[in-house]
Amino acid sequence: MAVSNAVATLLEEYKRFNSVQMKDLFANDDKRAEKYTLNFGELTFDYSKNRFDDKVLKALFELAEEHHLKERIEDMFSGKKINVTENRAVLHTALRNFSGKPVFVDGKDVMPEILRVQAKMKEFSDAVRNGTFKGATGKKLKNIVNIGIGGSDLGPYMVTCALKKYWAKDIQCYFISNIDGTACAEVLNNVNPEETLFIVASKTFTTIETLTNARTCREWLVKALGEEAVKHHFVALSTNAKAVAEFGIDVNNMFEFWDFVGGRYSLWSAIGLSIALAVGFDNFMELLKGAEAMDNHFRSAPLDKNIPVIMALLGIWYNDYYNIHRYGVIPYDQYLKFLPSYLQQLDMESNGKSVRLDNKKITDYATGPALFGGAGTDVQHSFFQLLHQGTQPVPVDFIIPAISHNENGKHHEILIANVLAQAEALMKGKTVEEAAEELRAAGKDEATIEKLKLNKSFDGNRPSNMFLLKQITPYALGMLIAMYEHKVFTQGVIWEIDSFDQWGVELGKQLALKILPELEGSALAQHDSSTSALIAKVVALRAECKKEQAEKVA
Ligand code: F6P
Repeated sequence: MAVSNAVATLLEEYKRFNSVQMKDLFANDDKRAEKYTLNFGELTFDYSKNRFDDKVLKALFELAEEHHLKERIEDMFSGKKINVTENRAVLHTALRNFSGKPVFVDGKDVMPEILRVQAKMKEFSDAVRNGTFKGATGKKLKNIVNIGIGGSDLGPYMVTCALKKYWAKDIQCYFISNIDGTACAEVLNNVNPEETLFIVASKTFTTIETLTNARTCREWLVKALGEEAVKHHFVALSTNAKAVAEFGIDVNNMFEFWDFVGGRYSLWSAIGLSIALAVGFDNFMELLKGAEAMDNHFRSAPLDKNIPVIMALLGIWYNDYYNIHRYGVIPYDQYLKFLPSYLQQLDMESNGKSVRLDNKKITDYATGPALFGGAGTDVQHSFFQLLHQGTQPVPVDFIIPAISHNENGKHHEILIANVLAQAEALMKGKTVEEAAEELRAAGKDEATIEKLKLNKSFDGNRPSNMFLLKQITPYALGMLIAMYEHKVFTQGVIWEIDSFDQWGVELGKQLALKILPELEGSALAQHDSSTSALIAKVVALRAECKKEQAEKVA
């Protein structure tokens, strides 16, 4: 690809800026934090601890303009079919559109249908929560089991965990995603069929994991309560009414969504039913309202005041110019511990692509980084060693609420002290001289100092963003999630990829379907020698185990 003006400038900026130390930038400008902090409602975004200055930022904004970012944002919000490989509009934003304005796809306003399903979700979640929609034997449905995978699991799972403090006292939520029989067994061992509602969540209603798990749960329920009980205990969330009916769920018990809602963007749709059941429909709406506030910000704020845009551009700066293809998200909030897993799908399934929108293979720049993370302070004691002293910096997002839902003495202050300290330590580091001085002050002899000073030094100059929220409320969480969605979208625009398809998950699914009959012995394994040998080994081990079990019984 020809090097554009903005790219050429950024390559020059990288040469100029590569060795600049952030601590010097702070020392030379006592207004740096103020200058590079944005406040939006109850969210404070401090991006000052990144390796940039005004000139770098200006070039990054030029890059966004070269890619017509503002027009692309409008294309998305206005229902243009920007998911080109699937010929679909991308309108998760319409699900949280409270403006009263229509949103058109193919000339049809999608809002009436969205509002109809939301009203149905409210009616149903209220009825389950207040006990008017009962199980087959007349008992209140207290256990909500969401059966889904990927976007039909991670979003509702992460959000219900994040909002645990808002759960109804007499409701428990469970999530079954993995095809591993253990996932089903562990949930079914803990719930009583008479009090359990199963939500089969699948956009396509063809996903083997979800349908297999749903069948197992259905058999379990029918065994306990009979076939008639299914309509009292099973509902479906899907775009595929035909498959739902074929599965044996009454379509009246189906909550619909549409192909303009991508799987990993679907928690705002009917896929959020488990959220509404756990925290109540009003709180679900608050979540959507928070997301809408971020949508409006993203759509209207100028680039240099736009939180998702700045996040995205800094990410591109590290990914494509510093060649750092890793990225950490560390929420300092126990309730947000599943946020990194959710963001893995959002970011990596959206931007883990290597074909451009013009149908050319990408060979000269990198797209989405590998995202990982976990809850602080736990992860300080696992992978933070690498963040501080590994050979390559990892840009990190820190997220912290000022107020905890469980203040518990000094716990929260210690937590806050830790997150601030980590960001400061990554930025400042510790020179070899400082390390030596510390050792000297601790009374170490010169030989010991010589031996340890390098190991005890920290390069610093390691970037991080700080997201400070007042508290993790449904509204704040909605804002936070939408912020990441728009960051991912912005990066996809600049990388010129389709962030809304996921062809990369297909090949493994195809091959698994081929291997399954081979494991069952009904087909002959024909693969590379490694795969064939592993299949043969598994078949042998399982046969041996069956024989042992049969011998025990005999
Ligand atoms: O992993 C691929 C994928 O298609 C995801 O994009 C999606 O969220 C997940 O599978 C589940 O799909 P479905 O909701 O159709 O069962």
